[in-house]
Amino acid sequence: MARVRNWWSHSKTVVLIWLTSALLFYFGLQFVLRNSSLNYPSAVSTMSDSERRSKLYDKMESDLNEHGAAFLEHGETSQSLSLSDLFTLKDGIVTPVLKAAKPPVRANVLYLSTEFSVPISEAVRSIFSPYFDKVIWFQNSSLYHFSMFHASHHITPVPATEVEIEGEATAVEAVAKALCPLKIVLDRVLLTPTGVLLGCWQVASGTDPVTIRAKLRTALPRAPKNQLYDNAILHTSFARLLGPPKFSPTELHKASDQLQFFHELVTRLNNIIRGFEADVSELWYVEEYDVLALALNGRMKVRRFKLAASKSETSEDHKVEGKA
Ligand SMILES: *[C@@H]1O[C@H](CO)[C@@H](O)[C@H](O)[C@H]1NC(C)=O
Repeated sequence: MARVRNWWSHSKTVVLIWLTSALLFYFGLQFVLRNSSLNYPSAVSTMSDSERRSKLYDKMESDLNEHGAAFLEHGETSQSLSLSDLFTLKDGIVTPVLKAAKPPVRANVLYLSTEFSVPISEAVRSIFSPYFDKVIWFQNSSLYHFSMFHASHHITPVPATEVEIEGEATAVEAVAKALCPLKIVLDRVLLTPTGVLLGCWQVASGTDPVTIRAKLRTALPRAPKNQLYDNAILHTSFARLLGPPKFSPTELHKASDQLQFFHELVTRLNNIIRGFEADVSELWYVEEYDVLALALNGRMKVRRFKLAASKSETSEDHKVEGKA
């Protein structure tokens, strides 16, 4: 009897040990699997910054077909402000309705000099003016810019004293000194469902916008966690469409398929300016006292900083396309 009992308790122990091991193994395996699936996205993030931009632009380009031309009804801007709130007709001229931004928005943007913006602006006007008289707003070519990072925006306002603003500007100036000027190429022009005509750019050389935004985030620790744009994007807005096109009698047949017509215009513009090359050598710290002041010629205070690093100083920022 004693031996049987012994055998029984012995096997119980063996079974227990086996069970425990099996469970440990099972959970261990689960843990490893789960972690490796967690790791999977990091494989995706090794995608180069320019690949990320291309994918992003592909998606933005397909939005118009997917969502239609929402601006013909009640368009909203990329900053979710309704377009009809932003403009009015004054003596037959499209005029921005300026509204005070409280507190003022503090934006950091790369600036595109008029040497490059004026020819682009002329091409945009030549294609769109004939069809969008009085229902188009052209971005002022003296203020073409690439939005990088907001120290405060209208969705998450971060009020600041004058002293804090000076501190931010000084921090941004230091960032600019550590950035290399960029050479960029216009990848494509696209029209968003909200009617914004956007130039989307790629980086040929210089500090990548992903790095610029990371440096600005470090330099501006109080800035809103959620920023308005994708980290990789490099875009300028050229114009905002506010209503439907008008056709001459000979082209009236085009009115039946407006979406097709928008694609046609964008293609025509791309045929002229796609591949356009430009240099970017200034970072601006802008206090916008009116909502969208940079886009609407509102009131603002601009501090301009030169991108002053040379290639050798920050070699890790200079992954020229293909080597990244
Ligand atoms: C465009 O911007 C420049 C620089 O801020 C300004 O001097 C000019 O008046 C603006 N043009 C228009 C039409 O508002």
